[in-house]
Amino acid sequence: MKLAVVGGGSTYTPELVDGFARLRDTLPVGELVLIDPAAERLELVGGLARRIFARQGHPGRITTTADLDAGVAGADAVLLQLRVGGQAARLRDETWPLECGCVGQETTGAGGLAKALRTVPVVLDIAERVRRAAPEAWIIDFTNPVGIVTRALLQAGHKAVGLCNVAIGLQRKFAALLGARPAEVHLDHVGLNHLTWEFGVRLGGPGGEDVLPRLLAEHGEAIAADLRLPRAVLDRLGVVPSYYLRYFYSHDEVVRELGEKPSRAAEVAAMERELLALYADPALDEKPALLAKRGGAFYSEAAVDLAAALLGGGGPAVQVVNTRNGGTLPFLPDDAVVEVQAAVDGSGPVPLAVPRPDPLYTGLLAHVTAYEDLALDAALRGGRGRVARALLAHPLIGQFDLAEALTDRLLAHNKEHLPWA
Ligand code: G6P
Ligand code: MN
Repeated sequence: MKLAVVGGGSTYTPELVDGFARLRDTLPVGELVLIDPAAERLELVGGLARRIFARQGHPGRITTTADLDAGVAGADAVLLQLRVGGQAARLRDETWPLECGCVGQETTGAGGLAKALRTVPVVLDIAERVRRAAPEAWIIDFTNPVGIVTRALLQAGHKAVGLCNVAIGLQRKFAALLGARPAEVHLDHVGLNHLTWEFGVRLGGPGGEDVLPRLLAEHGEAIAADLRLPRAVLDRLGVVPSYYLRYFYSHDEVVRELGEKPSRAAEVAAMERELLALYADPALDEKPALLAKRGGAFYSEAAVDLAAALLGGGGPAVQVVNTRNGGTLPFLPDDAVVEVQAAVDGSGPVPLAVPRPDPLYTGLLAHVTAYEDLALDAALRGGRGRVARALLAHPLIGQFDLAEALTDRLLAHNKEHLPWA
């Protein structure tokens, strides 16, 4: 089995490689190709990746290349984990919205739109090249904003599935609190990427007993602290929102906080420098503890499970993925991309049925879906007007003058990535 990772020079890659090494019985990787234009980084990351495989006795071969077409040729699956413009562009996404009193975040709000505009054309170009060099390959997209990027891929007819680690992170957390094995914990996970709620936590299988009320009663404090939301939010909702809902439920507080502390982009950039220095040490042959301070915990396990389900030829495995709505949430368009539990096998994901959520959630979901629709239109066709319409449609923006001011800033800060701006 051949897997290719586009953005393989990412400091995250050792997490992925560690997962491939540990879980080789689930996913027997024969060849892993790390593809990245940043030669120096790729060499450091590739070296550590080979040492991780060697230490764990993994027989697979790891190669590195800057040549995308050659790297993906004949792959069974291609993982996309790139960041157009790097942490420098992320830093801008996190900063200029604050000047307008709006949250500065890489996937939520105006910063998320900037990221979508930069990213969608690049990912679509890569996907076209994958289609030529590896027509059978599944594309597994980690590239943010995952919902919009996955929708762009599906709309262009690619064999793509979007993946995020929020659900697997909560599954692991709840399993630990319940003293259960992660595989025994099934989430009624519903929403859009980075806009989800756990409406149920079932033990044993998708139809198992719902222990969410018990979890909230016994561990509500710890869960709220983890999400950095007041406990009262959990009590009011009776369900568990993802920590990205903090940017909605506590928007103004987050804006104040962001004004006072260093940006996440700056923290991550510092961590990346440290990580690369560690990776350069030829004695290091495992993922360093520092990597756990990044947000991507368990993403390797989600990737292994998904690739195994798509490529393994076994029975369907139930997993949370980003895929075409197709009536799963009947109040959203069929071609919207939703993040839900799905049965995944070699023919792709089929969402499991979910109960219709309360209007407390359907309104926000419909609102953000409409924004994502306009965001994708702006990413595909460009133009100041389309950017302004997407921002006006966003539930955290909504006011005309604000949307115009954010549009000016977005375009000014992203000229080098947006040829039409
Ligand atoms: C979580 C999200 C990812 C995001 C990451 C950011 O894992 O699900 O979509 O990329 O956090 O983590 P970072 O360490 O870069 O802030
Ligand atoms: Mn994510």
